[in-house]
Amino acid sequence: MVLLPWLLWMSLVPSRGTGGTGSCKEIGCGGHDETCWCVASCWSFNDCCEDFASVCPEKPPSVQLAEVNFLVTTDLHSWIEGRKHQPHLDASLAHVASVLEHLRHSARSAMRDVFFFDNGDINDGTGLSASAEDHVEYLAPVLRSAKYDALNVGNHELYQRNGYGMLPGAACPIVGLKESGYIDSWNGRYLTSNVVWAKSQQPVGERYAVIEGEFGTKLLVFGFLYNMRDHCDAVQVLDVQDVVNSTWFQDAVDGYAAHVDAVVVLAHMDYRDDLVDLLWRTLRSRVGETKPIQVFAGHSHIRGYRQLDNFSSVYEAGCKLDTVGFLSFQHRSDGCGLDFDHANITGNVHDMAGALHLDLLRPNLTVNRALEAAKVAAGTDRVLGCSPEHYYLSNALQEKNSLWSFYMEKVVPGTLFDSEDQLAILGTGALSYDIFPGTFTVDDVYMTSPYGNFWLILQKISGEILQQLISKLNDPADFAGLASPLRGRGESGFRVPSYVSSSVPKPGKTYDLIFCDFDLEPIVQHLKDLVKQQHFDPQLFKPAMNTSSVLEAWFQKQPCGEETYI
Ligand SMILES: *[C@@H]1O[C@H](CO)[C@@H](O)[C@H](O)[C@H]1NC(C)=O
Ligand SMILES: *[C@@H]1O[C@H](CO)[C@@H](O)[C@H](O)[C@H]1NC(C)=O
Ligand SMILES: *[C@@H]1O[C@H](CO)[C@@H](O)[C@H](O)[C@H]1NC(C)=O
Ligand SMILES: *[C@@H]1O[C@H](CO)[C@@H](O)[C@H](O)[C@H]1NC(C)=O
Ligand SMILES: *[C@@H]1O[C@H](CO)[C@@H](O)[C@H](O)[C@H]1NC(C)=O
Ligand SMILES: [Zn+2]
Repeated sequence: MVLLPWLLWMSLVPSRGTGGTGSCKEIGCGGHDETCWCVASCWSFNDCCEDFASVCPEKPPSVQLAEVNFLVTTDLHSWIEGRKHQPHLDASLAHVASVLEHLRHSARSAMRDVFFFDNGDINDGTGLSASAEDHVEYLAPVLRSAKYDALNVGNHELYQRNGYGMLPGAACPIVGLKESGYIDSWNGRYLTSNVVWAKSQQPVGERYAVIEGEFGTKLLVFGFLYNMRDHCDAVQVLDVQDVVNSTWFQDAVDGYAAHVDAVVVLAHMDYRDDLVDLLWRTLRSRVGETKPIQVFAGHSHIRGYRQLDNFSSVYEAGCKLDTVGFLSFQHRSDGCGLDFDHANITGNVHDMAGALHLDLLRPNLTVNRALEAAKVAAGTDRVLGCSPEHYYLSNALQEKNSLWSFYMEKVVPGTLFDSEDQLAILGTGALSYDIFPGTFTVDDVYMTSPYGNFWLILQKISGEILQQLISKLNDPADFAGLASPLRGRGESGFRVPSYVSSSVPKPGKTYDLIFCDFDLEPIVQHLKDLVKQQHFDPQLFKPAMNTSSVLEAWFQKQPCGEETYI
């Protein structure tokens, strides 16, 4: 019998039942291969069960220091404060800085080095990011306060923010990082091996760095991004295939490999990506069989580890501070390889302490202060109103307390529409977190809807065409070509379609279609095919509003009851 993958999926995933919270006692604890993707089971840490922490206790891993040691964060997406709605994930970046200090302290007696890296996608996730026009203004100083040894760029630093000039404001976050002096402040440790400024063709950061630890360990470090196509026009992303064949890359590898203890690649791509293998194979062919090569992966928001050969491995450390990654290696006594060791440390203060054999882990004060200052500057704690309900990102549209039907059928029409003849369609990558009952703050707005995409309108489209458009957009055969897999596919698992509309279009009726700039290309492409019309010219719709601000506007009209309002 042949099962479609999603049918197989549905048959494996136990149902939570509608609208309530499940219990891990009933549906089990699951694994951790869907980290940060809220699916309707305890396959993830996304609090699908409210009793997760008590029913599914984790034994903290034990961190073993070795010859060369690494602590890594990836895809933080501005989730660096600890999660107020998920007490299980209470660790902040200040706790991570503290873990680093403790590791360095223990390593000092053995004269060993511990390196600290970030692998990109620092922005787009909470109020700390999107309440700034360029999405990085408040965030960057906090990252700066943590003493990373090197950092990589991710795709989220490279999305166009101003509609290519349709709206005023920063063109994309990387421009903000440059203009604020953030990139320069890293003194050559902000790495962009395959990203250049479009105008000058000069690298955005440095192409590579040779870094030396306190005890003399030397690393040659690169920072690669997957072959991203839908980047902002300020930059160009060069294909990894071409860069590894370029003179500067080969000269850097040939010139430094003999003098360093290892080659490290920060690679903003899935740990199973073919490009990881390409990077490893190319490096291996130039540095000889026994030079350690360590790749740190990211982008797909999961944990994963693969050994590539006796002297190299690739490790991906989750996302959104649900994980702090530790990795170490040591030469085997037989000389024929390295012993690699890694630990997925959960972003939980107690687990972090346990991993270090401590009873208590205090947050680092410097980073804590920077965090507090950023929160105040961003104004993210401001209470807008109250939510009477818990709305679940992963609930199917027809289920009770479905976040997607609440957002599309109530919030968008209630805050954005002027008439009954308007209809909105939105790709379900746009929302990424539940709404919890109780006070709803600016931070909650952006956790639920992090991207602040602006709205566009196309006038007078028939209900028949809209019906066809929606089914085209949701046709599984069409998913392959989507611009950004991590937003295109929707963060809500398979229980919500890829695109949702604010109402069911009626045949015989004419609508004004509203959508956001992120979905422009697929929507216009399908319309061209359906209407056999070559030109569509969507207009900016209510430029003061965006996919985040509609939630703000909605909750400003939902005052808290006296008993909940503090
Ligand atoms: C806190 O972190 C900063 C760098 O981020 C470091 O210089 C300082 O030593 C740390 N403080 C403690 C108490 O670990
Ligand atoms: C690199 O260039 C060589 C010779 O021009 C070519 O044979 C090879 O396929 C190229 N490699 C990649 C990964 O493009
Ligand atoms: C880290 O997590 C990944 C994904 O769950 C898993 O495959 C790997 O074995 C974990 N590593 C350790 C040391 O537990
Ligand atoms: C890799 O390690 C295995 C044993 O684990 C050994 O048999 C093999 O010879 C090693 N390969 C190299 C290239 O050293
Ligand atoms: C979204 O709209 C709000 C309200 O106008 C504005 O404050 C915010 O900066 C906008 N966000 C983005 C990313 O444009
Ligand atoms: Zn990411």
